[in-house]
Amino acid sequence: MPAAPNSLAARDVAYVLHPYTNLRQHERQGPVVVARGEGVWVYDDDGKRYLEGLAGLWCAGLGFSERRLVEAAKRQMETLPYSQIFAHRSTPPVIELSERLVALAPGELRHVLFCNGGSEAIDSAIKIVWYYNNAKGRPEKKKIIGRKRAYHGVSIAAGHLTALEYTRGGFDLPMLDRFRSVTTPSHYRDGRPDESEEQFATRLAEELDALIRAEGPETVAAFFAEPVMGAGGVIVPPRTYFEKIQAVLRAHGVLMVADEVINGFGRTGAMWGSETYGIRPDMLTCAKQLSSAYLPIAALMMTDEIYQTLADQSEKLNTFGMGVTYAGHPVAAAVALETLRIYESDHILEHVQAVAPRFQQRLKRLERHPLVGEARGVGLIGGLELVADKASRAQHPPEAKAAAHVVANCLKHGLMLRPLPGDVVGICPPLIITEAEIDELFDRLALALDDTLGVVPMAA
Ligand SMILES: Cc1ncc(COP(=O)(O)O)c(C=O)c1O
Repeated sequence: MPAAPNSLAARDVAYVLHPYTNLRQHERQGPVVVARGEGVWVYDDDGKRYLEGLAGLWCAGLGFSERRLVEAAKRQMETLPYSQIFAHRSTPPVIELSERLVALAPGELRHVLFCNGGSEAIDSAIKIVWYYNNAKGRPEKKKIIGRKRAYHGVSIAAGHLTALEYTRGGFDLPMLDRFRSVTTPSHYRDGRPDESEEQFATRLAEELDALIRAEGPETVAAFFAEPVMGAGGVIVPPRTYFEKIQAVLRAHGVLMVADEVINGFGRTGAMWGSETYGIRPDMLTCAKQLSSAYLPIAALMMTDEIYQTLADQSEKLNTFGMGVTYAGHPVAAAVALETLRIYESDHILEHVQAVAPRFQQRLKRLERHPLVGEARGVGLIGGLELVADKASRAQHPPEAKAAAHVVANCLKHGLMLRPLPGDVVGICPPLIITEAEIDELFDRLALALDDTLGVVPMAA
């Protein structure tokens, strides 16, 4: 429906460019104007209530009305609204947040570089991998391997690791020859008939090994992976995958970078996806739930070995030549620090572990629905992969936009979700969701699936 003249929606259409939107379609359709939030719910400017089933963009872990975060921001605004951390300056929230992150970090990560969002953290990781290998006297060891259907952000370097067509079309990506990708670890979609998860994982590790050998291990620097792939379609790795992948990386001296931008801070039922899947990363990126999305902040953590190499090199070059104005912004850092305190004091991890079985049970039940090929997930993240034919796993033609139909129908039932590539409906509610709210989420989603039957063509 076209927006009423002078309404907020009409003014939006006049001025705002919306990411990942067909801009002409947006002109015709207009936005849902989200005006306020409370717990896991948000309200549009007409007062209609929606359950925010994707926590915004997989990020508002504490929901939409956490007063303690508001107070933390206010206190910091009043004390010191901004100071920079270039060239020998620091602030109390930056120091305290780094300490707390290092205490929480998986494996051997001991040092923290701050930035504003996930793409920037990934770009920083890529640059640091290159700086590190130059420092080590291995200037040819620069190639970066990612996975098909990965999402790591949209800036030029991160955009080379994001292997999704919709982020590349029209932007001349890829343009750098330092990036490679391997098969998506989707057992449902990429496993062979009769191949077990373990056999599939072995095959993928062999593929990675063969690629590194073909490129020359002396040219391959790092492997980037989300523990559970989020925006590419909620892909849960097959059993034994990371164990086998890491053995290959270690054998060839290739760094493991865990992108925990979605997984971090309890999403998979452990503090990190790396813990859920036995990953020992050399570097780790996090953002989103780091501040429960209340302010933009991201962090890149690294081992002491990497840090010491960078520090020596910075002494040689007389600087570590990268940084952004808002790195470690004191207000964002104070809010992140308060977020981490709340995760601990409110036992958010234990809460996720307590309600996740209900979430996964209700999710799995939807696999019986005629539209759903696979329902998969872990912790409080899930995906429904839609198919035209359950037996052959044949997909709907792209123009059917099956997942987008389901998500549009969810909106009618007061539920916000997101369609993902591969005809997947992504589900990732705030971590504070209760069992009763989980039931509401899946009741509404089931209604939306029913509404979509008959709208998208099914195999006879
Ligand atoms: C795993 C992962 N990495 C990186 C990014 C990029 O983060 P941002 O959108 O904050 O740049 C995202 C965003 O969704 C993500 O899911």
